[in-house]
Amino acid sequence: MRTYFDLTGRSALVTGAGAGIGAAVSEALAAAGASVLVTDISGEAAARVAERINAAGGKADSAALDVSDRAAAEAAAAQAAALGQGDLHIVVNNAGVTSPAMFPKLTDETFRVTFDIHVMGTFHVTQAALPHIPTDGTGRVINVTSSAGITGTLGQVNYSAAKAGLIGFTKSLARELASKNIMVNALAPLAATPMTETIRTNEKFAANMMNRIPLKRWAEADEVAGAFVFLASDAASYITGQVLPVDGGMVM
Ligand SMILES: NC(=O)c1ccc[n+]([C@@H]2O[C@H](COP(=O)([O-])OP(=O)(O)OC[C@H]3O[C@@H](n4cnc5c(N)ncnc54)[C@H](O)[C@@H]3O)[C@@H](O)[C@H]2O)c1
Repeated sequence: MRTYFDLTGRSALVTGAGAGIGAAVSEALAAAGASVLVTDISGEAAARVAERINAAGGKADSAALDVSDRAAAEAAAAQAAALGQGDLHIVVNNAGVTSPAMFPKLTDETFRVTFDIHVMGTFHVTQAALPHIPTDGTGRVINVTSSAGITGTLGQVNYSAAKAGLIGFTKSLARELASKNIMVNALAPLAATPMTETIRTNEKFAANMMNRIPLKRWAEADEVAGAFVFLASDAASYITGQVLPVDGGMVM
């Protein structure tokens, strides 16, 4: 019988995986059978997640990786490939930060840092990974964008511009890598994580968000992680260049 979601024998590199969505995605990929290199700017946070995976019977290693550092990205890609006997099948570009301010107050510095992490970070890690990604149809690049990059959002011109940039990045790279049989997609999640704490706990922001979410609740990070497993799996072998919102229906 054909199997669709088994990632046994595949290796994965997840960025920004010391907390939130990245940690949950690392655990979900490992639960599906992948060997996962858990990376984060905080090496300690990454190591804790890898320990949790190994203690639960999965296979993981960890590394400190600031995605704005190209040399560190190359080292991490090689380390992840070593986990997969030379191949790195799945790259999840998840690391991210927000630096909100209304437009007149946005500074060059916060604009630049946001781009360095989201856009340049995804560029570094993906380019470093590419020589290790197999061309047999199992290779996947999954970029994490946001509803902010699709519909825009108040106080986040820098973040929205970076996340919209990742959508263009995803579509162009999907076209380039189609001839190599490597699928490139983006996922726009919504989940209760440290990043969304302020908008979940501030009464006015929280009410405004609930009005925008048709399912009227926040997902925990492990609920959105399943969609990453889907995009990483053989079930998504004919899907490339797409943006998948996993957000309780907020973007439709
Ligand atoms: N949580 C949501 O609802 C939501 C919505 C839309 C998009 N996103 C996106 O999902 C991704 C994960 O978000 P989250 O909510 O889990 O955030 P989070 O803040 O909970 O976790 C982000 C992780 O990225 C790490 N990080 C920060 N800068 C880094 C760098 N330079 N290099 C490597 N790691 C770095 C942090 O240490 C942290 O562990 C981000 O790209 C975010 O923009 C999240």
